[in-house]
Amino acid sequence: MPEDLTSGLLTDTEVTQRVESLLEQMSLAEKAGQLTQFFYFNNLPPSQDIEETLRVDFSQQPAMVEAELAKGHVGSLLFVTDPAETNRLQRLTIEGNRLGIPAIFGFDVIHGLRTILPVPIALAASWDPDVIERGQAVAAREARAVGIHWTFAPMVDIARDPRWGRIVEGAGEDPYLGAAVAAAQVKGFQGDSLASAERVIAGPKHFAGYGAALGGRDYDEVNLSDSELWNVYLPPFKAAVDAGAGNIMTAYMDLNGIPATGNAWLLNEVLRGEWGFEGFVVSDAQAVHNLRTHGFAADLAQAGARGVGAGCDLEMAIGDPAFAHLPAAVEAGMLDERVLDTAVRRILAAKIRLGLFEQPYVDEDRARAVLADPAHREVARAAAQRSAVLLRNDGGLLPLTGAESIAVIGPLADSRRDTIGPWVFDYDSTETVTVLQGIRDHLGDHAPVTYAPGIRSAQRTFPSMFDMWGDNYPVDPEGFDDAAELDRAVALARDADVAVVVLGEWQNMIGEAASRSDLGFPGDQLALLQAVCATGTPVVLLVMNGRPLDLRWAAEHVPAILDIWYPGSQGGAAVADLVFGDVSPGGKLPFSWPRTVGQVPMTYSHTVSHEPVNQARRYWDEASTPLFPFGHGLSYSSFDYSDLSTDLQGITTPVLAAGGTVTVTVTVTNTGPTQADEVAQLYIHQRHGTASRPVRELKGFQRISLAPGESRQATFRLGRDELTYWNAAARDWVVDGTTVDVYLGGDSTAELTTSFTVTTAQD
Ligand code: NOJ
Repeated sequence: MPEDLTSGLLTDTEVTQRVESLLEQMSLAEKAGQLTQFFYFNNLPPSQDIEETLRVDFSQQPAMVEAELAKGHVGSLLFVTDPAETNRLQRLTIEGNRLGIPAIFGFDVIHGLRTILPVPIALAASWDPDVIERGQAVAAREARAVGIHWTFAPMVDIARDPRWGRIVEGAGEDPYLGAAVAAAQVKGFQGDSLASAERVIAGPKHFAGYGAALGGRDYDEVNLSDSELWNVYLPPFKAAVDAGAGNIMTAYMDLNGIPATGNAWLLNEVLRGEWGFEGFVVSDAQAVHNLRTHGFAADLAQAGARGVGAGCDLEMAIGDPAFAHLPAAVEAGMLDERVLDTAVRRILAAKIRLGLFEQPYVDEDRARAVLADPAHREVARAAAQRSAVLLRNDGGLLPLTGAESIAVIGPLADSRRDTIGPWVFDYDSTETVTVLQGIRDHLGDHAPVTYAPGIRSAQRTFPSMFDMWGDNYPVDPEGFDDAAELDRAVALARDADVAVVVLGEWQNMIGEAASRSDLGFPGDQLALLQAVCATGTPVVLLVMNGRPLDLRWAAEHVPAILDIWYPGSQGGAAVADLVFGDVSPGGKLPFSWPRTVGQVPMTYSHTVSHEPVNQARRYWDEASTPLFPFGHGLSYSSFDYSDLSTDLQGITTPVLAAGGTVTVTVTVTNTGPTQADEVAQLYIHQRHGTASRPVRELKGFQRISLAPGESRQATFRLGRDELTYWNAAARDWVVDGTTVDVYLGGDSTAELTTSFTVTTAQD
């Protein structure tokens, strides 16, 4: 049993009493301090670009923060991951604070701290809430051990436009899958008690609508219809709140013209009023300050007053916080002190519930032991195995069972930094297993493995704001000759039984501030693939990515394509398990994979309108269907779906009362030669009603493991929750009396279908 730092004795009344007794002793400046969170950037290499963008002098930043700590004007810190540093800064906080209130430390523990899991979009591709929860529990354990109490995760923004680089941080395009993945992550981070020495507060973000940035350009404005907001973009947040998330982070942009960080409707009415959220809200970095940039505030005092007044409790700041002006705003009558007090109460309550007053410091030896726990690596490996998606496998080229020699080609095949993906700052690169390493370890002396990057690593010319963390990418040897290197790669491929080509985006091309207007492979990667394929040696393409890339050429010419995402620190080991058939791929796409960037934004869950027969051909020059549909993913085995039925069959006018459900059953059979997983997916379509509803909507899924020849019945329940939708004309949640088509199968084009009719109580 993990240690409970508050000895499990805290009741709600006790928390309230402790909060009130602190609050009544606090000055206005101390209150504003509790609502201020500072980045603490120590030892950052100077980066002029970033300093200019953020208008911050990094060399002065630590001293500035320490001076504020000494005044007792800081409630929280972020970006510190070394346990000795969290302890030192915590001591400065407590000693600088008249009332001894500790700081709460936050950090972006997005897909692991030291043990790196696959990126979040990959975790979503596992369609496996259990492995996601276990993975984030590992992340929480490592984070809490070093003194981090709270993670800025999960990102639950729906993304239907892969030009937006942050698609990699979320669960893709679908609200139902997104909600399931959000809830699993919150449970993994938080467990049952925040006072556990192994858990952290989860902070779902970015509330709300951030993924719909215009043109896929990060931070750009978002204009969402009422229907899209309620039916698509908000459900994962609601699920995260229902799962108990202790924090919510605001979004940077304007939502329908109002900055999300100053949006009282979003924060106070929807989040707190309708959903009953009881935790605290943090702004995104500089977002309160930036209310001025939006033209939503005349000065910092007004920005602060509008932010806290809208329900944003804590300001995340690099420097010059708007909340430092809150005392002046109160004194000038711009802000009611009771509003300030409400925010302070929420921050203090979180600190008390975390057990920070009892145990503000961490044990550095224990931290080292937790970070080194081999059990964590096993979870990361399982998560990477379960995330991979087999996009194509012509002629059953995979798994590679008989290959006597293998050529591994591509600049990402042996890049540790790219293997773990974006949003990783504190990692031990020596323990990262690359694809090349994983394949070599797996084959040992059984088959020779040759390797050539084929193109230079220095093609990574993309500037990223995260490059300031001094990442260690592979270095091209002195005198690298492009033509000679390409020839060498081609020769190795020609001489081998199979070529395994690892291509994709460099990890700094994706994530925050990493939008693209083109989804092609970067640099000369496609030319390299074409040259290797021209040798006639069978090619397996492993795609390392966090967004769909343009695979049109590959999908026609490369027999086997496995999407391995950025698979994390055990990525190479997991990829070898998959490539050699120890495990069959069972992941499924969490987004529709477009053919070309001209098709985006794209979703399987669209409505039908004029001339539906032409729906698949809306462009002169390209189909409007995806290259691979939402939910697609092949296996080394094959599956059959049969006996689809509902328990309403034969009942002519069934009424779906509140709490009532329709039970849907289907039999799934493994008809192939290997033990494998299948994700059975249930989609519905409402034939008619008082709004136009999508052709298909995911409303259930189960990942099932089956032995060869084994059959299993899967049961799904559809209740009012699944059939209710937000009707923009009624401005309310509605269940229509209608006929509902049900589709069951292994992706969103599933053909096995049945239907049922419901008469709602309101008809
Ligand atoms: C800005 C990002 O938008 C947010 O997701 C992140 O948590 C903060 N920076 C802190 O790093």
